[in-house]
Amino acid sequence: METLQMPSTDRRAQLMVEDSANILKRFYFVQRALVVMQAGWVPGAEHWQSKLLLPEFLWQDALVAKELRQRVLELRYPERKILPGDDAPFLAVWQKLADAPHSLAFSEGLRQVVKPLLRRVYQTYLDTADHLDDGPTIRIIRQALWDIDDQLGRWDAAADDARAVYPEQITAAGRWVSGLNSLREPLFDWLTRWPVSPPAPAFEPADFGGQPFAISRTGARDRRFDTVKFPWPDALYQRHPGEGMELQIRQATHHLNEIWATEMAAACIFDLADHGPAEFLDDAARWCYDEVRHCRMGFERFAQWGFTLPEMPIGTFSYDAGAEADPLTRLGIIFYFETTFIHTKWERFRIFGEAGDRVSSHDMDFDWADEQIHTHYGSRWLKYFLQRQKDSRTPIDFRPEAEACVARIRAAATPQDYADTERIYQRTMARARQLAVAVAPVV
Ligand SMILES: [Fe+2]
Ligand SMILES: [Fe+2]
Repeated sequence: METLQMPSTDRRAQLMVEDSANILKRFYFVQRALVVMQAGWVPGAEHWQSKLLLPEFLWQDALVAKELRQRVLELRYPERKILPGDDAPFLAVWQKLADAPHSLAFSEGLRQVVKPLLRRVYQTYLDTADHLDDGPTIRIIRQALWDIDDQLGRWDAAADDARAVYPEQITAAGRWVSGLNSLREPLFDWLTRWPVSPPAPAFEPADFGGQPFAISRTGARDRRFDTVKFPWPDALYQRHPGEGMELQIRQATHHLNEIWATEMAAACIFDLADHGPAEFLDDAARWCYDEVRHCRMGFERFAQWGFTLPEMPIGTFSYDAGAEADPLTRLGIIFYFETTFIHTKWERFRIFGEAGDRVSSHDMDFDWADEQIHTHYGSRWLKYFLQRQKDSRTPIDFRPEAEACVARIRAAATPQDYADTERIYQRTMARARQLAVAVAPVV
């Protein structure tokens, strides 16, 4: 006998909770993997503007990964674990996105293929999911889309510049991108359909000029810089910090050279993310982004004053000092430097403010705020990993090891290194005197 029923014709109900949870789990894993691989490429990235973008993008990707993880746990409550399961073969393919022939190819692969692919995937989710029942996810995916659009917009100018500065790398980058293009459709299908999951595609990076990824333990610098090992004399010997204009230049130099801290934080992500909880990645990604902002504070100051890239004093020694160290000691090195020099932030905030240099003072003010969080990060995660390894040391015990790493690299400085540092110092100050403006004494 026929029964009456209210109509159910609305197209809202395409994805049930299990469907969404499984698709979002894939999104989470690919976002997380992107964070780690972008971090891995930071130290070896040569092109300057591209190197500055990676830490910011990986931080944005980490925020999306964090929210996706949280959402998957909500949908599967009370389950607390997220495991790859049947998605492992696809994730293994996704992991190979890191195996680019060089940093330009890696960035181009992300810019031309991977991020546009994710954009399409997320748009498909928005078009399919129910904006009422699945509202909390909609907000996350909209943010992810906004981030990708912002990233792609900012990447264009950097990519044009990278091609102009490294023209000999364009062919290999194109070959790598064509390889990733072959993955577009199978990855799209995997990321948008559940439970239907086709077999993972075969992808051999070597067929497109790729090679197994290995993080660089020395900091790569753009060829336009006149790179030295020790960018300012105080890296080699104790000296008076300087006053007035010299302190402005010295601080801008130190900020610019915080690219080392960015690289060290990125290396900590790459080395330790798989050994720590999800919160470690959240903190370390933010740490990495903060350090690149500090670097950009110096870069912006120099650029605004009229310095060109070849005129900016930049070195590599602080990141290189950790080349032979184990991952935990590298985390210890960054923690040690953070705590040792944190007092200079507040002091220089005051000195620059009193001297009428509001921009430098402003930079120091925000830098100081960041560094206070970083000492917390350093202490929290050193304690965590020490305990995990049943190591009885405490964070402060890393002081002698960090000092020894720096002492070793200083001791290896050659007469040529000393001469280079002095030359850069004299040249930078001479250029500063050309660009300086006369100001009335502050009373
Ligand atoms: Fe910093
Ligand atoms: Fe810091």
